[in-house]
Amino acid sequence: MSEDGKERAVELRYEGGAHALPLLTGTEGDKAFEAKTLLSHAGMVTLDPGFANTAACQSKITYIDGEAGILRYRGYPIQDLAAGSSFLEVAYLLIHGELPGPGELKDFSEQLRANAALPVEMRAMIDALPRDGHPMVLLGAAVNTMAAFYADTVDPGDSDQVDRATLLLLAQLPTIAARIYRNSVGEQPLEPDHSLGYVEDFLRMTFGGDSGSKELDELYAKAMDLLLILHADHEQNCSTATVRVVGSSQASLYGSVSAGINALFGPLHGGANQAVLEMLEEIRGLGGDVDSFLAKVKDKESGTRLMGFGHRVYKNFDPRSKEIKGLAAQILDRQEQPDELFELALRLEGQALADSYFTDRKLYPNVDFYSGVIYRAMGFPTTMFTVLFAIGRLPGWIAHWREQRLDPAARIARPRQLYVGPAKRSYNG
Ligand code: ACO
Repeated sequence: MSEDGKERAVELRYEGGAHALPLLTGTEGDKAFEAKTLLSHAGMVTLDPGFANTAACQSKITYIDGEAGILRYRGYPIQDLAAGSSFLEVAYLLIHGELPGPGELKDFSEQLRANAALPVEMRAMIDALPRDGHPMVLLGAAVNTMAAFYADTVDPGDSDQVDRATLLLLAQLPTIAARIYRNSVGEQPLEPDHSLGYVEDFLRMTFGGDSGSKELDELYAKAMDLLLILHADHEQNCSTATVRVVGSSQASLYGSVSAGINALFGPLHGGANQAVLEMLEEIRGLGGDVDSFLAKVKDKESGTRLMGFGHRVYKNFDPRSKEIKGLAAQILDRQEQPDELFELALRLEGQALADSYFTDRKLYPNVDFYSGVIYRAMGFPTTMFTVLFAIGRLPGWIAHWREQRLDPAARIARPRQLYVGPAKRSYNG
């Protein structure tokens, strides 16, 4: 043990010296050696593309054990939250650290509903954006402009402003998303109805009425709520890391979340749910020939991946995919005709899991493999899928941004590099 009270259990030996590094242990026994002094003491940095071995912070929000397929928000297993909580309770839990009591939940919900309407100028701004633009592009743009529409809530150093920005983002993201959708299909946008719940009103603002039966509407709202819970946080994924990196410069919460939306849009991240549906359509177009599609995936030259499969962290199974697969079966069961794409997805999963290419590389269905078939059954076009992911992920982004803001160890994110370009050369020849 050294003067700073940290156990120095890792020793780095290198030509010309040695340096002892503190070893830190997380709640669940995970180990990390602290490399903060590496450059100043040993004169070297770590090289870790994709940060796969690098912890950028200590966090109290979400725990994942990828080998065991465990996901917990603030200590609670995802399965328990999925079975017993609403999305708003989970959002509150992620952001404030504890589940709300009945009074707190009522207040939280009322405040969100009361702030759901967009300023008139913001509506006009969204309506002026290209209506055939991808909804994720428009969503990122609209959220970024909230820093201008609510300029008195952008100071990360002011807790009241941060609380107000938190509320406005949570309250208005569904309203913005529904407006973008209505514009894209040439229908008049609908204003929020404060008497409805968060998810129910989002579905109403999007589809503008009921789906034909109260029972079906309730099932869709329940399914949407569950999907939002399952997407609500996933520790240091690409978009959350982006939110933290942008926030580390003391950019506003709006600017940081807008950056997160753009990171989420990438096909290797949140864009995968859209890509899965496109892949299933493609296979259907090939007459449902799963074998030749999988052969193409296994041929590295083809550059084709089995979308919705594989995960940086889960190397056994993704606990969210199990919940979603069950939900998909429940929803699609209600349809008069069997859902061709769902059946195709089941076949694809079955064949992939019986194939050593996938099992050897520990590639299993992830959260996106079945979510798209549910969204499609509800009536969402594929371009809206990642927008739904963003609505779900928003509380996680906010929780991480707020945690970093109060973390005394947080510094501006500024990675190092190993320069391998040309050595100094003469400009004048
Ligand atoms: N299909 C086919 N092969 C795959 C796939 C896949 N979906 N995913 C990984 N592999 C292969 C790679 O080619 C590589 O093979 P190799 O060892 O022979 O070279 C091996 O498995 C390891 O793959 P990496 O790319 O190193 O894994 P990484 O952890 O970097 O990537 C990722 C994870 C991006 C999720 C990847 O599995 C992928 O592209 N999946 C498809 C896209 C997807 O579904 N993304 C959603 C992720 S969940 C989320 O963001 C919400």
